[in-house]
Amino acid sequence: MDSSKTAPGGQEDDTHGMREQALAALAATSWPDKLAGVRAIADDARLDCERVLAPIAGLPGRPPRPELVAPAEVRHRSMATQEGRAALLHALAHIEFNAVNLALDIMWRFAGMPEAFYRDWLRVAREEALHFDLLRQRLDTLGYEYGDFPAHNGLWDMAERTQDDLLARLALVPRTLEARGLDASPMIRNKLAGAGDAQSAAIVDIILRDEIGHVAIGNHWYKQQCALAGKEPVACYAELAARYQAPRLRGPFNLEARRAAGFDDDELAALQAG
Ligand SMILES: [Fe+2]
Ligand SMILES: [Fe+2]
Repeated sequence: MDSSKTAPGGQEDDTHGMREQALAALAATSWPDKLAGVRAIADDARLDCERVLAPIAGLPGRPPRPELVAPAEVRHRSMATQEGRAALLHALAHIEFNAVNLALDIMWRFAGMPEAFYRDWLRVAREEALHFDLLRQRLDTLGYEYGDFPAHNGLWDMAERTQDDLLARLALVPRTLEARGLDASPMIRNKLAGAGDAQSAAIVDIILRDEIGHVAIGNHWYKQQCALAGKEPVACYAELAARYQAPRLRGPFNLEARRAAGFDDDELAALQAG
């Protein structure tokens, strides 16, 4: 074992645990620091599932730009211009930046889960960091950087609303907001490809492939928590969606991706019934 992970006197060093490092990466404000923080979390980091961690001030860490505005104020631009495509890629990069934060947040905030839970969300955090980086690099090629366009904060708002309720977090973040990404991806991909931007379209393909896995992880742990609490998953979802004011999901739904992510026939029927 790496001796740096044990503090003098044989006590475990608090800062090197997997969940402790997730909290530190969540607090990191610049994107390079956040990505470095995620990369630094090793598979063999000490994992204390039971420890209740205290929040740090200023969560989530984020850079001073992009400026956060109301969703209605985010302008939709034409795909015919490079600026328009950059604005779309920037919106996706911002979603991925938030997604890194969401995966890190669930790791530190919710104690008492099995080891596999934290390892699943570490995998998600790493993949979200990769998605952010792919989009950031593509933006760079087009002459833009993360922060150049205003963005909205809908993803993180839902994280705050569900910060005391793991079942609600699982229902409304991975199974609602990330799953909505599955529905939106084919259209975004086609817009970019239709504008002749095959490289950006290829990044959206990678993201969709990985996001199916993230929603599957959300479904797995949502159903595990429902079973523990003796709740029926479809009825429980409807109740949580109403209580936490989940956005109303509209089709077209990517049923193939949703099935691959573990939604069953009852859930897809409830979704389509609106
Ligand atoms: Fe992602
Ligand atoms: Fe994701």
